[in-house]
Amino acid sequence: MAKKSTRTAAFTVPGLSTEQGHAVAEILQQRLHALNDLQLTLKHAHWNVVGPNFIAVHEMLDPQIDEVRGYVDELAERMATMGVSPNGLPGAIVAERTWDDYDVNRAPGVEHLAALDLVYDGVITDHREALARVSDVDPITEDMLISQVRGLELFQWFMRSHIESGSGVLEHAGARTEKAAAKSVAGGKGAAKSSRASGKASKKK
Ligand SMILES: [Fe+2]
Repeated sequence: MAKKSTRTAAFTVPGLSTEQGHAVAEILQQRLHALNDLQLTLKHAHWNVVGPNFIAVHEMLDPQIDEVRGYVDELAERMATMGVSPNGLPGAIVAERTWDDYDVNRAPGVEHLAALDLVYDGVITDHREALARVSDVDPITEDMLISQVRGLELFQWFMRSHIESGSGVLEHAGARTEKAAAKSVAGGKGAAKSSRASGKASKKK
């Protein structure tokens, strides 16, 4: 027997066509995956940071995680409001994401911060792209994404502030993978070259 789809409702928000509303909500699904992934990644760093900056980095990350979890809830509920079922299940994240897992494990604070800076680059870039896509159709969703980008950019600055020089230089600039970014700040050298040409930071959604 053919199964009825439970993915979409027959409605969306007033003022938009059902197709328009559902299209906006579908854009949010990938942002939901990205921020669900981000809050898990930040917890992973929270648990795996070591070294003299342990407590600074460990404690800095938890308020970010709480905030990102709030964004996740906001995204999912916006999708439902617009008539599309949000999917926050781990299998869907892994199947539909276009990036790999964060690949720094037990490491000093500066290495995690350099790697997370790349993660934030990817997430923020894609959030900005999503908000540009929805802006003509739905200013309410655009407004939600703008406030999330503002928060994410603030968190990225917190992390960068730990690792920038007095003249504002980030030693890992140009690194294309998290491992390369971590390595470049660990060795006190310029950005290490990536062995993976299609660096995952650029794929982070
Ligand atoms: Fe904790």
